Amino acid sequence: MGIFVTPDHHFELTTDHTSYLFNVLESGDLGHVYYGPKLAWPNYANLEANEFRMVMPVLRPDTPEFSLDNLKQEYPSYGHGDFRYPAYQITYPDGSRISEFQYDHYAIVRGKTALPHFPSAFSDGDQDDVETLTVYLEDKTAKLSLALNYSVFPHQDVIVRSAAFTNTGTGSVTLDAAGSFAVDLPSSCFDLYQLSGAWARERHLYHRPLTRGIQSVSSTRNSSSAQQNPFIALGSKQIDDANGAVYGFSLIYSGSFLAQAEVDYYDTTRVTMGINPFDFVWQLAPEESFQTPEGILTYSDQGWNGMSDNFHQFLTHHLLPQRWVNQDRPILINNWEATYFNFNEEKLVALGEKAKALGIELLVLDDGWFGKRNDATTSLGDWEANLAKLPNGLAGLSKKIHGLGLKFGLWFEPEMVSQESNLYKAHPDWVIHVPNRRMTPSRNQFVLDFSRTEVIDYLYRAMSQAIQEAQLDYIKWDMNRHITELYSLALPPEREKELGYRYIQGVYQLYERLTTAFPDVLFESCASGGGRFDPGLLYYAPQAWTSDDTDAMERLKIQWGTSLVYPLSTMGAHVSAVPNHQTRRITSLKTRAEVAYFGLLGYELDITKLSLADETTIKDQIRFYKTHRTLLQHGKFIRLVSPYANDGNVTAWMVISPDGTEAIAARYQVLAEPNPDYHWLKFTGLDPQAVYTINGQGQYGGDELMSAGLFIPQLFDIRKARDPSFDQKHSFDFSSALFLIKRVAPR
Ligand code: DGJ
Repeated sequence: MGIFVTPDHHFELTTDHTSYLFNVLESGDLGHVYYGPKLAWPNYANLEANEFRMVMPVLRPDTPEFSLDNLKQEYPSYGHGDFRYPAYQITYPDGSRISEFQYDHYAIVRGKTALPHFPSAFSDGDQDDVETLTVYLEDKTAKLSLALNYSVFPHQDVIVRSAAFTNTGTGSVTLDAAGSFAVDLPSSCFDLYQLSGAWARERHLYHRPLTRGIQSVSSTRNSSSAQQNPFIALGSKQIDDANGAVYGFSLIYSGSFLAQAEVDYYDTTRVTMGINPFDFVWQLAPEESFQTPEGILTYSDQGWNGMSDNFHQFLTHHLLPQRWVNQDRPILINNWEATYFNFNEEKLVALGEKAKALGIELLVLDDGWFGKRNDATTSLGDWEANLAKLPNGLAGLSKKIHGLGLKFGLWFEPEMVSQESNLYKAHPDWVIHVPNRRMTPSRNQFVLDFSRTEVIDYLYRAMSQAIQEAQLDYIKWDMNRHITELYSLALPPEREKELGYRYIQGVYQLYERLTTAFPDVLFESCASGGGRFDPGLLYYAPQAWTSDDTDAMERLKIQWGTSLVYPLSTMGAHVSAVPNHQTRRITSLKTRAEVAYFGLLGYELDITKLSLADETTIKDQIRFYKTHRTLLQHGKFIRLVSPYANDGNVTAWMVISPDGTEAIAARYQVLAEPNPDYHWLKFTGLDPQAVYTINGQGQYGGDELMSAGLFIPQLFDIRKARDPSFDQKHSFDFSSALFLIKRVAPR
């Protein structure tokens, strides 16, 4: 396990179930050898097979079979005969773009430390088996060094990769592209999977067969985005939830990215991922280094559940803030869909009183509490209480909410400014824009230049003051627009194309300062719903608002897609009012909660206006969730029936405790069917030798529940449907059923 280097410079990275192999080629470049299921005895001659083919550029005539054109490579460059897209590109002062990084030496250290001031993976030091290999390469002509970092996380079958360029010369060079990693796989027999979408339909799962040429997923929005998540997977043709080979790739970065799979003319596949080279150029001055964000690589032959469990375990133990990771998260009431901008202290206290009575633990005051903000046109940037709504200020309101025995949280949108605000009037130069060019507002707002230290300092002060004044327990950090007219008044012209990256660095810096100064404040990130749900932000904010679409049926696809990479403990999921504010769909309170249970439960509706029956139901829901919170938030998540399969009418999933004694499964059906086929629901992950009860009833062998499944009676009752005395409003559509599975005895 771990890292082994052979005398002839083969690097063997081994996890519990995978091998990742590369070597130093005779040209001094690094060659990729193999990534996939664990190999006990790699035969390198076989794995590196390379033969002469016609029409290929060769470096040396005496080795006609050696061509970078058809070799698998580790961090490829462009210009010496490899015509596939490279992992990086550098322009030198004389205008040339040829790099020759030759192997120099390597170092192996125990563990992994996080990158300074940047989100990145970490180990438990001596507590786990993580090891890090750095391979150093030199371009002696250009006086540049390149460090390729590989951290091996054996038990999650994850390898984290990044690259760092250092200028040891006397002149600047420009980095035109700096990918986090490249992997050359020997075939293209995969489908490319991606999590794509838009506002209110984030992270839907799409796939397409790999074919010759380039297929890519990217963001140019200076945000990882709802449109494309920084994730791709290459799944084998027969993959399903439990079986099949899959490579998963993710990026610990929240800005514009590019994930690309290029299938070449020998049917090999080069995967590259990193900062989007579009509109990016970095000046690398003498003695400076540029460190790329880290990429996460994983492989599983256990289908989607295997891949996502690797991601979940890795993110939980090696990326999410450990202060929060195992903590049960509070059940919250958020006033956004309850009141929008129309609230005052009295209304919030009334919500708080009812929340407390229902068993809710945290009240989150959303948008509209500051400046003169009564709609979305003003005041972003003026982070002081709107005294017309909150006459006793934040301190007065917070005292009342805390006095009720609730925690108190507040919404901010730190990166933004409204034109109608004191901040804009005082510092128009802090806004990202190009002088004498049109400015493009979005949601009536503009973006602050987070590459400027004075901007970060201002926000740090303003937010710290609010945190202290209101004794905040929680912050929802929203971000509701993408950047246009990307330009900083503070950067020199040759550094303007660094702004996208510097902006994200600024976001991380503010997060770091606040989370360090206020370690007990729980942060939830948000971006018009789940528009920036990525590993970068999860490093600081352990949870994220999954989507503004709170409709239970819509949420099935969103939560399913999101869970492919991100654990349930990161996914905010709220019960909202019906008709739903996004779709006007009416679903039962039961179904809404049974979807939201598989995430971080919250309520986002006017709970002061509930019927008595709904109040009782919500109390029961909260009691249920509290009883099973640890399992629901931190259990192992397993997919059973995909909303993306067949006609998508049925979805099912489950969580199971680490010791396998308890599980909760849910089955959802979008539309009722009269006289349906017979349905059994097959569970996964149970002990085949054990006996289980379901919802306190029956006795079922684990083997039977997994092989034959549990019979699901039809939902649609034709006798009731035709009975005039039956509630005519009752719908059999949008139903859900919950199964509490308990191990009662070994067999
Ligand atoms: C977008 C978020 O996703 C919502 O939850 C809410 O906070 C609004 N912004 C407020 O403007």
